[in-house]
Amino acid sequence: MILLTGGAGFIGSHTAVELLNAGYNIVVADDFSNSRWETIDAIRHITGVRFPVYNINVADKNKVEKIFEENNIDGIIHFAGFKAVSESVSEPIKYYRNNIDTTLTLLEVMRSHRVHCFIFSSSAAVYGTPASVPISEDAEVGNCANPYGRTKFYIEQILNDVSFSDSEMSIVLLRYFNPIGAHPSALLGELPQGVPSNLMPLITQTASGNVKYLKIFGKDYPTRDGTGVRDYIHVVDLAKGHVAAMQYAFNHKGIEVFNLGTGNGYSVLEVMAAFERNTGIKVPYKFVPRRNGDIPECWACVEKASRILGWKAEKTIDDMCCDAWRWQKHISFLNE
Ligand code: UFG
Repeated sequence: MILLTGGAGFIGSHTAVELLNAGYNIVVADDFSNSRWETIDAIRHITGVRFPVYNINVADKNKVEKIFEENNIDGIIHFAGFKAVSESVSEPIKYYRNNIDTTLTLLEVMRSHRVHCFIFSSSAAVYGTPASVPISEDAEVGNCANPYGRTKFYIEQILNDVSFSDSEMSIVLLRYFNPIGAHPSALLGELPQGVPSNLMPLITQTASGNVKYLKIFGKDYPTRDGTGVRDYIHVVDLAKGHVAAMQYAFNHKGIEVFNLGTGNGYSVLEVMAAFERNTGIKVPYKFVPRRNGDIPECWACVEKASRILGWKAEKTIDDMCCDAWRWQKHISFLNE
């Protein structure tokens, strides 16, 4: 049985579906501070499988102990964590306390229960401003632009130390690029609180009239059209990457790191064009100055994940736009 912390979140819920589809048993722990119970219903509806859910914060050791006592846990995928970049700048202590505490608690409890497989949700944020693209896993890390990224970097260091100290451990660090899109059923997707800060939720909210126009941060980057370039990956592909990583972790020891991206970069204007092509909606926008902490361009070298995990992203930018828009229409309908 696999424990998914943050299993009701955006990436956690899609991974829950893919693990259940692959025949794994799961248990979800989530404190629902940035997710909703309806997501659990949606996972159950899509897969037809019931599974245990614990409404807890995974920094609470006694409650995590209880999960391990009541279930036969073989591995953990640790998604739970705060992830808003700008909030991490204004409230760094909250970010360090939560993201690091939850990880340490899980490591302590898994050690006392002799569980050895741990998969960690890391981020391309650990690379900071990359010296070159595509970024491979052995590129320099640590020069992060914000406390959120630094929590990921520090946790990676902690996990390296834990792996070194215990040869039984099998740890996989997954560095996500820019996950977007939603489940094709439109039953699962991203639920940002308040006005979103990421590009795709802003595009869909602008398209549906909730936001007046999209602000494009910077038009003078040294990229093909002057706007920022990122490696957008469909969240279902990303979820499947976790299934491959779990299979790998069950059969290996030590620590490995993998980029989860597509290997392709798209500019802001290219994403907007893809959205318009797929939905027929022209999203109003204005150019504004660059956003602090943004990098010009970033995309992943995906050779290692393909070679070792046998995993590759399959969905296109068109799929990402269609699914994100279908999801936005679904949540607009719910909010009416
Ligand atoms: N952008 C705009 N206008 C907006 C929002 C974004 O022009 O209103 C642009 C950004 O400047 C950037 C691109 O769209 O060029 C993507 O921005 P996002 O905010 O969607 O994503 P980021 O690449 O900035 O951040 C993402 C994750 C972070 C993670 C980071 C590093 O959201 O959690 O990647 O990999 F830390």
